This record gives sequence, C-alpha cells and structure tokens, in this order.
Amino acid sequence: MQILVLHGPNLNLLGQREPTIYGNLSLAEINAQLELQAKDLGVNITCRQSNHEGVLVDWIHQAVGTFQGLLINPGAYTHTSLAIADAIRGTGIPTVEVHLSNIYARESYRHHSWIAPVAVGQISGFGVASYRWGLAALVDYCRTH
Ligand code: DQA
Repeated sequence: MQILVLHGPNLNLLGQREPTIYGNLSLAEINAQLELQAKDLGVNITCRQSNHEGVLVDWIHQAVGTFQGLLINPGAYTHTSLAIADAIRGTGIPTVEVHLSNIYARESYRHHSWIAPVAVGQISGFGVASYRWGLAALVDYCRTH
C-alpha cells in the first residue's frame, strides 16, 4: 500500500516555528518517524511539503492510481481552502487530517476546517503523535474498506 503524506504551508519551519505550540521536532524528524512506522505497518509512504495551495491540489490529483490513502496536515489552508477540500472530494482518495496543535483550543478562526467534512477523520492536538495515530488510522481504514 502506498500512502501520500502532505504537509502544508509553514510546516517546513517546524523546529524553529513557535515551538511551544508545535514542538521541537523538524519536519525531517517527523517524516523519519513516519518512515519507521510505515515499515512496521508494512506500507510505503511518500512525504511532501508545499507552501502553495495549487501545488497541494496538483499532488492530490496526481495521487489517483498511485496512492491508496492521503495523510494531510493542511496547515493554515485547513481554515481557508475549499480548493483542497474539493480536490479530496473530487478524487475520492481516503484522507486523514492531522494537526500538531489542538485547533479547537486556539483562536476561533482555527476552529473551522474545510477538510474535516471530506476526510475519513481528524486527529488534532497530540503533536507528532497526531501524525503517527493518523497514519495508523488511515492504514487501518484503507485495509478494511
Ligand atoms: C496546524 C494548525 C493550523 O491552524 C496552523 O495554521 C498550522 C499548523 C497544526 O498542525 O497544528 O500551520 O495545522
């Protein structure tokens, strides 16, 4: 099974960006943890990051036929991007949305997600564990559906 992991805008700054909110791990360290977990789960993952909405939309379109599931932290596009939501809806790729921080415990403008209604589910607030549990949940979903 091939899983696409997408990180949205500003997540390339992890490690230096607001560490009290997002933790000390860099994006490369998070991806390394996911690679190890993927081996244990017996799946392959491909991790990508972009600061550009259209690039993320293109990658979701191109995932069809290659990837069986999508793990995504859309960053701030969570709260603004109907385009990413439409790409997920339009391709039908099973998607799990993850966030390092608990978006519902933060500013009210972070409480709405365009992605949540088109995702299988969302995990928010557990730091890097949101990604790990998100990957486990996505693989379990893909194997049982
Ligand atoms: C985030 C939460 C978003 O509100 C924020 O814009 C991010 C990161 C998270 O992982 O907690 O960039 O998606």
